[in-house]
Amino acid sequence: MCGIVGILGKGPVAEDVIDALKRLEYRGYDSAGIATLENGHLAICRAEGKLRNLDQKLARHPLKGHSAIGHTRWATHGKPTERNAHPHSGKKVAVVHNGIIENFRELKEELIAGGAHFLSETDTEVVALLVDRELRAGRTPAEAVGAVLPRLKGAFALAFLFDGEDDLLIAARKGSPLAIGLGTGSTYLGSDAIALGEFTDEIVYLEEGDWAILTREGVEIRDVDGAVVTRPVIKVPAAALMVDKGNHRHFMAKEIYEQPEAIGHTFGHYLDLGAETVTLPDLPFDLAEVANISITACGTALYAGAVAEYWFERFARIPVSIDIASEFRYRETPLPKGGITIVISQSGETADTLASLRYAKEQGQKVVAVVNVPTSTIAREADLVLPILAGVEIGVASTKAFTCQLATLASFAVATGRAKGVLSQEDEHRLVRALIEVPRLMTEALKLSPEIELLARSLSKAQDVLYLGRGTNYPLALEGALKLKEISYIHAEGYAAGELKHGPIALIDEKMPVVVIAPYDRVFDKTVSNMEEVAARGGRIILVTDPKGAELAHVAAMQKLILPEMSATVAPLVYSIPVQLIAYHTAVIMGTDVDQPRNLAKSVTVE
Ligand code: M6R
Repeated sequence: MCGIVGILGKGPVAEDVIDALKRLEYRGYDSAGIATLENGHLAICRAEGKLRNLDQKLARHPLKGHSAIGHTRWATHGKPTERNAHPHSGKKVAVVHNGIIENFRELKEELIAGGAHFLSETDTEVVALLVDRELRAGRTPAEAVGAVLPRLKGAFALAFLFDGEDDLLIAARKGSPLAIGLGTGSTYLGSDAIALGEFTDEIVYLEEGDWAILTREGVEIRDVDGAVVTRPVIKVPAAALMVDKGNHRHFMAKEIYEQPEAIGHTFGHYLDLGAETVTLPDLPFDLAEVANISITACGTALYAGAVAEYWFERFARIPVSIDIASEFRYRETPLPKGGITIVISQSGETADTLASLRYAKEQGQKVVAVVNVPTSTIAREADLVLPILAGVEIGVASTKAFTCQLATLASFAVATGRAKGVLSQEDEHRLVRALIEVPRLMTEALKLSPEIELLARSLSKAQDVLYLGRGTNYPLALEGALKLKEISYIHAEGYAAGELKHGPIALIDEKMPVVVIAPYDRVFDKTVSNMEEVAARGGRIILVTDPKGAELAHVAAMQKLILPEMSATVAPLVYSIPVQLIAYHTAVIMGTDVDQPRNLAKSVTVE
């Protein structure tokens, strides 16, 4: 969603605010803004569109204040215009906000009835005007914020800067993350600690319901009841907080190319390479006794879960149900006794996934979180965290997080199969041997990049693209279509290859490219029949397969991308590479904003 920054510095801080916001731009980029104190009084600069527009505006009209709040926006209430850009303000306070104030309409009516005048269409402005009203009634900033916070419904993070208060910021967290950075004679605030890496390595994470009073001397944190509380100061190595594109043109390309290393890291955590076994952390339940599994997540993380469904069912013979988190949370699904719920999330902050976790816990289930951000809310609330260890992912289109989720889930599925006695020790050794080949196979798959770039030239002219797969390659077809839609804006659909004749075949004509993900496996012949059906109707096929599949598939109008031979278990991990590269090269040719595609945000902390 939106990115928030706050700095109480030793000199002018506007440049540092912009730098910190740059590292949060992945959270939203519809508009940006900053509020500082100039000669003790609030001064605000805002611009529609990306941060660079604000940067240019500041170059023309510099702000010199030593304390500031800043914001990069993903629009929820109100169009992405300058008028709706944050900070929003009253006479005595400016505020930046991430999330949604659900009861803003009634609060707005109340303020209007009291004579307030609104300048924007946002929900945020009610917060500014409510706090302002309290300040004008003579309350101190802390009293004013303390009086307003309990009135706000929804999930949000807020940061306030006050007129005439050069050594004060107030921040509040309810449902959206906030990290505080402690410097020497300076204090920082960010939606994500990566915003603060340039300034400090001492980080305090606010807990749910906390609000904090920041001065240059440090921070006083109060919990939801107003009691002063202590939260641990965590040393986060600067390297973990730094992000750059290296030699790549886009973060997405860097993250695609990082996958062999990232996966090696994930497997290093879960696999004992010498003993050829899977090692999990201590579990808060008996794996052998798990009777069923519910998986829930959103977007790409959901598709990782859909691949894992096949693995858990095959390796552990456990029934699995998988659901979109935004549906799961409201469906009142009865969760069977003896079951566990697995939630999957790169950010660990996705609102629907978090709500699903809470629902599953209320139903008495143990919840396993497969997350990338170990300090996230989902990680903190789960009974067991399985970190995917992908490192920071900046590209809005998820790539390395997807394959690291798969690596983690594959390890978990094998461990479950072993604990259940479905897999023998020899089976476990065989599967672990297959998994540890993935980094090498991915490196081979990356060599297809120039070939895929050529192919992308014709794909970029298509209006619609169909992706087909069977078994674990079906969720990969869904993921391929999502990736292409997200970054190239070409309409794409993923289907189980067997479903083609039940409807989507009506779409096929000579203009419709069909990407078929089909390594040579036990269902390969069936997929070849589906390709024949496409070819018979003039469809253009791009077959992603292995040498044997390439040799056996002789269908008209076909281009082939050939990967090395590999075990069927690891195919979804390795075949992810061409799937991601197809989307990436197509988007680059089309000239879209690959790392920050329109209308999207990296972390979706609203419903
Ligand atoms: O942070 P999460 O994994 O919970 O995010 C879930 C989805 O929002 C995310 O995977 C989204 O679909 C990506 N943009 C896909 O590339």
